[in-house]
Amino acid sequence: MTDQKKQLLEKTYQDWMALFLDENTPLDKLESLVIPDIMGYGTTVEEKVFGVVALRDLILLGREQGRNLEDMQMQLKQPDLRRIISGNDMAIYAGEVSISYKLAGITNHIPLRISTIFIYQDDVWKVTHWHGSVGVETEEGDTWHADELQLKNQKLEKLVEERTAELKQSIADLKATQTQLIHAEKMASLGELTAGIAHEIQNPLNFVNNFSEVSSELIAEMNEELDTGDLEEAKAISVDIKQNLEKITHHGKRADSIVKGMLQHSSSGTGKKEPTDINQLTDEYFRLAYHGLRAKDKSFNATLETDYDENLKKVDVIPQDIGRVILNLFTNAFYAVDEKKAKLKSEDYKPTVSVSTEKTKDKVIIIVRDNGLGIPDQVRDKIFQPFFTTKPTGKGTGLGLSMSYDIIKTHKGTLEVDTESGTYTEFKIILPIKKTATP
Ligand SMILES: Nc1ncnc2c1ncn2[C@@H]1O[C@H](COP(=O)(O)OP(=O)(O)OP(=O)(O)O)[C@@H](O)[C@H]1O
Ligand SMILES: [Mg+2]
Repeated sequence: MTDQKKQLLEKTYQDWMALFLDENTPLDKLESLVIPDIMGYGTTVEEKVFGVVALRDLILLGREQGRNLEDMQMQLKQPDLRRIISGNDMAIYAGEVSISYKLAGITNHIPLRISTIFIYQDDVWKVTHWHGSVGVETEEGDTWHADELQLKNQKLEKLVEERTAELKQSIADLKATQTQLIHAEKMASLGELTAGIAHEIQNPLNFVNNFSEVSSELIAEMNEELDTGDLEEAKAISVDIKQNLEKITHHGKRADSIVKGMLQHSSSGTGKKEPTDINQLTDEYFRLAYHGLRAKDKSFNATLETDYDENLKKVDVIPQDIGRVILNLFTNAFYAVDEKKAKLKSEDYKPTVSVSTEKTKDKVIIIVRDNGLGIPDQVRDKIFQPFFTTKPTGKGTGLGLSMSYDIIKTHKGTLEVDTESGTYTEFKIILPIKKTATP
């Protein structure tokens, strides 16, 4: 083969490769470099090219994608093979292009292999076929990539394990935070209760003190009667003393149950369901909430209305949890009527909060209603969200209703609201009653 023909072949190879490697190479050279029905394989499954037009599209796509990669570099190495056959009219070139680019800060190397077949026609060399492939690194003896896939799988599994551990940690953190929040809320509502509790304990305490004093006077009297030998009178006095002692016990127990309730309310342990007198529980918290507010603000006043269904027997609930729910409903209600009073400044407005219970066949319903400010439509959808509050900073955490909602949900009941802005708000707790097996 003449040197000129050889040089021409070398130049054609360089120009052909430049189409792929240098994005500044004009594509109008394409037709002079390849035969019209050129066929070739690119490096991906869909890159199967027939004809010049398809080849042009492939090159354009390659350039376009290359532009999106950072620090793209391509280097044509010396061909591994130059073979001239068919009486010097056909040539095969095979060689590698080393490609590197950065993706997410990591440099990726690709050894691209390209084999090209040229034919010599009408004094020019033209490409008739080419094949591109990417050399993949595998372990020795893993021609079909089985080991490599397994390794990839193991890597993925490890990654999944790590992510799962991270997620588990986040969940544990969230749970811890939630427990802390619940505790904080309990403590805050306990604060609201203290004044009411003090007021409630004062009453039985007064009885205990008074009856003890009276009783010790009665004992002195009884002794006098015994000295004078009037046994009849002494006996009569002893009956009075006994009655007084019974009253002392009664009021002592009452104070005891208030303190127990307070301790239960603040307990952080998971409460257990127990048969609970809902009417009594509701009434207790109603008064605690009211007197609590009155103790803090002497001017605060509201009419309390109660309507308890006497047919309501004990219901299985977690008493301190249900207590927390109704306490929050009462506090919210008192707050709403107080705000309205401050806003209206009218003698005609009578702040009223009412509570009623009702027993149906399989449900118990507790309704807390107030004639306060009501809830505007745009606020209504949000009131059950944690931390949603319209109260000024320091007045509310916005956890009351979201926690109430959760508590009622764990009791398999529902908490509903009905309200008219400026007029009233009514919260309805509906709890299912477990049917007791009747013999
Ligand atoms: N009876 C009601 N009348 C009017 N608005 C109410 C009433 N009850 C609740 N809301 C509205 O719902 C909001 C959320 O109530 P929630 O009890 O969840 O939180 P909070 O009372 O603001 O704060 P927290 O109860 O944690 O002290 C209140 O800020 C208020 O805007
Ligand atoms: Mg509240």
